[in-house]
Amino acid sequence: MRYPREVIEEVRMQNDIVEIISGYVPLKQKGSSYFGLCPFHNEKSPSFSVNSEKQFYYCFGCGAAGNVFGFLMEMENYDFPEALRVLAERANYQLPTEEKSGQALAMEQLRSRLLEMHTVAGRFYYETLQSDAGAEALSYIENRQLSLPVSRKFGLGYAPNAYNSLYNHFKEKGYSIGDMLQSGLVIENKDKNGYHDRFRDRLMFPIFDPQGRVVGFGGRIIGRGEPKYLNSPETILFSKSRNLYGLNFAKAAKKKELILVEGYMDMISLYQAGFKNVVAALGTAFNKDHARTLKKFAEDIILLYDSDEAGTTAALRAIPVLVENGFRVRVLQVPDGKDPDEFIKQNGASAFAKLLLDAVHYISFEIACIQRKYNLQSPEHKVRFANEAADILSKLDNAIERNVYAKEVSKMTGVEEEAIRSEIQKRVQKEELSFQKEAQRQQNQWKAASVSTKVEKGILEAQRSILYLCASDEKIYQKIAETMEPQDFTDPVQYRILQVMGELWKDAGHVFPAEMVNFFEQNADQRQVAEIFALEMLLGEREDVEKGLNESVKQLKQRKIDLQMNTATTVEEIQKLMELKRKLDSLYITI
Ligand code: GTP
Ligand code: MN
Repeated sequence: MRYPREVIEEVRMQNDIVEIISGYVPLKQKGSSYFGLCPFHNEKSPSFSVNSEKQFYYCFGCGAAGNVFGFLMEMENYDFPEALRVLAERANYQLPTEEKSGQALAMEQLRSRLLEMHTVAGRFYYETLQSDAGAEALSYIENRQLSLPVSRKFGLGYAPNAYNSLYNHFKEKGYSIGDMLQSGLVIENKDKNGYHDRFRDRLMFPIFDPQGRVVGFGGRIIGRGEPKYLNSPETILFSKSRNLYGLNFAKAAKKKELILVEGYMDMISLYQAGFKNVVAALGTAFNKDHARTLKKFAEDIILLYDSDEAGTTAALRAIPVLVENGFRVRVLQVPDGKDPDEFIKQNGASAFAKLLLDAVHYISFEIACIQRKYNLQSPEHKVRFANEAADILSKLDNAIERNVYAKEVSKMTGVEEEAIRSEIQKRVQKEELSFQKEAQRQQNQWKAASVSTKVEKGILEAQRSILYLCASDEKIYQKIAETMEPQDFTDPVQYRILQVMGELWKDAGHVFPAEMVNFFEQNADQRQVAEIFALEMLLGEREDVEKGLNESVKQLKQRKIDLQMNTATTVEEIQKLMELKRKLDSLYITI
């Protein structure tokens, strides 16, 4: 269904483009524009700009452009209705109810059947755990010192040591094979002669979505064996790169601080010990989808990864993802190579509470990590360490933080604080300068290289400046609308832009760049709109503006006549064109 224009515009206005894009791309402010690395092409220096005043983005490098809808469409591969829905939801804006297409309806029904099947499976595993078959699993849970209430709260269960018991259970309940396969809980035999359960003889952890619905499972082997953990595959309900284990419980803690751990058992253990603001990434590297999921629930993150090499590397990788998404990050490592679950079991909750106070700012953690590579007794190593530390510190945006940590490094190395500070400063300035230079260079390059030949470039610029002026002043628009014909423009889209401006002047009383973009569905067309507004035009004296406008109009009309001359075949035609040319000489638009 097509939504009314006002609805689309309302949703657009409620979603600030800078805010949305910052969720994907770190941006730096420069006037009313923000710059960052373009997410749509590979680049090392920022040529991607977001204009907060005009509410659109433009890449001087690859030409990608559009408003907030266009951005999500390109970034997330959404179609327009999806982008609209997502943004409406984000703004808590109720879209008018929509007649669902047959396909959308079928998808929704499949989702709800799969959710139901996961509930059924969860209950099945839970009941098996309480039955005779679950005795061994139950004592495993006891051995791991999980209390009954907690194991119940997390819905722990047991997948029996049988080939296809869940499959049979599903069949009794009347679910189709197709749905069973889609759930990921049932798998077709290799030789296609039947079906079997994905999870067999495992302790089962239901995985909940943030709303608390079961969307998948993790199964731990009882005792030793490979693989230790087996997870649900990616399904339409579950994605391991988005879902975080325990978030449904942690979010109820309503703390703006979350502890991020590596595993199921760590999560549950901390929860049981009373630290309820804890979540785990599910056996996959923490990524920006995770970060975006957490964004709604937390501002501060304590990274609590295993202190072995794998855990340290994983923490070092998670840090930039979190920092770029605006979290304040601290890091905590459990001593003696234990994981959090083992630590709590051995030392108890209050020792863990004390340990939490040892969480350090991520910068200290990063510095401690590089320090291990050096022997600070050696002068040469001192120099290399101090320089590497300065590299890290120069990435801090906050000058106070930079100074505090410069002091730390000074203490560690005995190098004077002032020297370290000035090294940091040098790097900050260098980065700043190259950022600005590059943005400038890209802008100039774009100005110069948008079209190959000089003449054509003039024509494109003429069109742009005419349309730009039409958007800035209704009177100018009216004069131009009277004067220009569709054929005067090089591309029907340009003429359509003029028409849309007319509608906007009439209906809204202003022409707002990002609103105009709403009228164009094709990405290429959206770009043409954005290009008109991408460069700030300096409007001089009225006379100059008028002169420039007339030059541009004549240039376009002249081009049209020239083209027609080339193809004219009869004397009459040529005479008519000559007449037009004469008229053109006396054309003058006053504004
Ligand atoms: P326990 O041994 O039960 O205490 O588990 P743990 O959480 O200490 O496990 P570990 O530190 O080895 O792994 C951390 C997380 O990585 C687990 O919670 C799982 O999510 C995941 N993981 C570990 N082993 C496997 C595996 O064999 N396959 C998969 N897919 N994930 C695993
Ligand atoms: Mn463990």
